Amino acid sequence: MDTATFSEQEIEQLRAGTRGTAVRVHFNNAGTSLPPDVVVDTMIRYLQEEASYGGYETEARYKEQLENTYTLIGRLINAGRDEVAITENASIAWAMALYGIDFKEGDVILTSEYEYVTNLLGFLNVQKTSGVRVTVIPNDEYGNFSLQALEEAISPQTRLIAVTQIPSGGGGVIPVVEIGKIARKNNILYLVDASQSIGQIPVDVQAIGCDMLSVNGRKFLRAPRGTGFLYVRKEIQDKLRVLFMDGFTAQLTSRDEYQIRNDGRRFELYEKNRALNLGLGQAIEYALNIGLDRIWQRVQQLSGSMRRQLSAIGGVNVHDSGDVQCGIVTFSIEGIDSYTVKERLAEKQINVSIAAASSTPIYMNKHHLTSVVRASIHYYNTEDEIKLLCDALASMI
Ligand SMILES: Cc1ncc(COP(=O)(O)O)c(C=O)c1O
Repeated sequence: MDTATFSEQEIEQLRAGTRGTAVRVHFNNAGTSLPPDVVVDTMIRYLQEEASYGGYETEARYKEQLENTYTLIGRLINAGRDEVAITENASIAWAMALYGIDFKEGDVILTSEYEYVTNLLGFLNVQKTSGVRVTVIPNDEYGNFSLQALEEAISPQTRLIAVTQIPSGGGGVIPVVEIGKIARKNNILYLVDASQSIGQIPVDVQAIGCDMLSVNGRKFLRAPRGTGFLYVRKEIQDKLRVLFMDGFTAQLTSRDEYQIRNDGRRFELYEKNRALNLGLGQAIEYALNIGLDRIWQRVQQLSGSMRRQLSAIGGVNVHDSGDVQCGIVTFSIEGIDSYTVKERLAEKQINVSIAAASSTPIYMNKHHLTSVVRASIHYYNTEDEIKLLCDALASMI
């Protein structure tokens, strides 16, 4: 494990290779990170070649690099390249997993209060169509996911444990490895939404022990918008229904029969944006070269520092809870609406976003948070930028 800290020179180099850092302070990495220049330039070059040579012809020229994206995804999450489908976002990846399960009436899904709105909608959908029941495991009084409550909630009817590792609207982290042990012990399907964790935390599907994992590229992975992927463990693939098929996913073997392909790509369709696929691969390679352990260490250091400095400003309330906290820092300012805070920071070229209760409703409603400011940190951010943010906030109060 490489835990060496980043030198100032390395951070300068990484920032020099990220054109956006020259013009603004970007603390919206939980929305979309600034992509490395090499990712953007690779995609522009590819699109230009498509325009000159033709789309299919360019694809043939880049066959190896395009294929390599699957290998890189496999390396990123410690999976086989045959366990991966490339998608255009996390929602479709997650949906392909959830709706592929042959739920029966009375089956129970266990989830956490950090669950993302799209996933809650998905649960309601299968509740209405299949008679499934959904139980939310509440966090304990310290804001930690309760493994004990999870164990107690498991029954013979429990069909699926589905959790979001890091919520959209808070800095806590769900203990996905420990949950995985419980899922395995009880032989329950396990689906993890790693949209906010991939790229800031090492995500290892073998260590997590999940059957399915959904991801998007644009957040901490620093890949382009419109990218994502789904992991489905090889042994599970045949047990999930394939929702959509084309000639890439399956073959007609007779007029009445078809054969679905024998790898993770059965969960994707043929037509997709090849430039984005290449950009996704490039972003993964970039993250792997830096090292996910090192990234996670720096993200924790910087976000810890930001939380301490914010808490020291009178009138600022930091809302994150739980023993393990990540690069998402949420706070509010007494007497100033969070949307106004965001606008005033934007005037100073500081990007933050708003975490609204509509995205993480169970957790945020429980804590009476309607909308909070979300400042999400990546490794390319600096202490100087944190100071700029804190000074700007102090001047508003
Ligand atoms: C935790 C979480 N899950 C899922 C999603 C959905 O991702 P996408 O918009 O790529 O479908 C998001 C998006 O913000 C998210 O924060």
